[in-house]
Amino acid sequence: MGQMLRVALPKGRLGDQVYDMLERCGYECPEIKDGSRKLIFTNEEKGVQYFQVKPTDVVKYVERGAADLGIAGRDILLEYESDVYELLDLKIGKCRMCVAGPNGFHENPEKRLVVATKFKNIAGNYFAEQGRDIDLIKLHGSIELAPIVGLSDVIVDIVETGNTLRENNLKVLETIIPISARLIANKASFQFKTKEIETMRDALAEQVEKKEAEKK
Ligand code: PRP
Repeated sequence: MGQMLRVALPKGRLGDQVYDMLERCGYECPEIKDGSRKLIFTNEEKGVQYFQVKPTDVVKYVERGAADLGIAGRDILLEYESDVYELLDLKIGKCRMCVAGPNGFHENPEKRLVVATKFKNIAGNYFAEQGRDIDLIKLHGSIELAPIVGLSDVIVDIVETGNTLRENNLKVLETIIPISARLIANKASFQFKTKEIETMRDALAEQVEKKEAEKK
């Protein structure tokens, strides 16, 4: 038998979707669906161990080698500039990173634009590339509130359905990048467990292709 693969799964809907894909690939660990508070799930026979972690923490487990593989959104990978291999676009968890502001917003060129965001690096780089001088405020959630109550002029945040923006009378002003979930690997693990990692990646790639073909 090959070596055990340790996989950091993001808790929540994205993690559930990825686990379902892995289950279909033969890496099942049914206990994971029991809704327990356990954080580690192992299937020795299939050579896989899953960790349940917060989505933003996945890259840390993988980068430092506590996990061999992980699933992280492109937003997190760009924000934390993680030193990991990106192996596959899973084409799920699709959304986009946007600049959004109140309906009818007009930028005042005389004033520094005040931007609230959870994604300081992405926002900072985006405006810097355009030579726009901004005042950046880092928040941890409910970003949409900031421009409504006058904490900021605009926000940089993730837009999926657009419901949150609509319900708060905000709209997309600029799209920065499309986002989707990626399979990532620790660089050293990839050297030592190449065969096991490539087998899992290829099985997932097949699933992704199948799903894409069904959509057409
Ligand atoms: C994310 C994001 C938006 C919302 C976008 O928030 O920050 O608020 O989802 O989704 P939508 O376009 O489908 O409405 P999340 O639910 O992660 O909570 P947060 O505001 O606490 O970050």
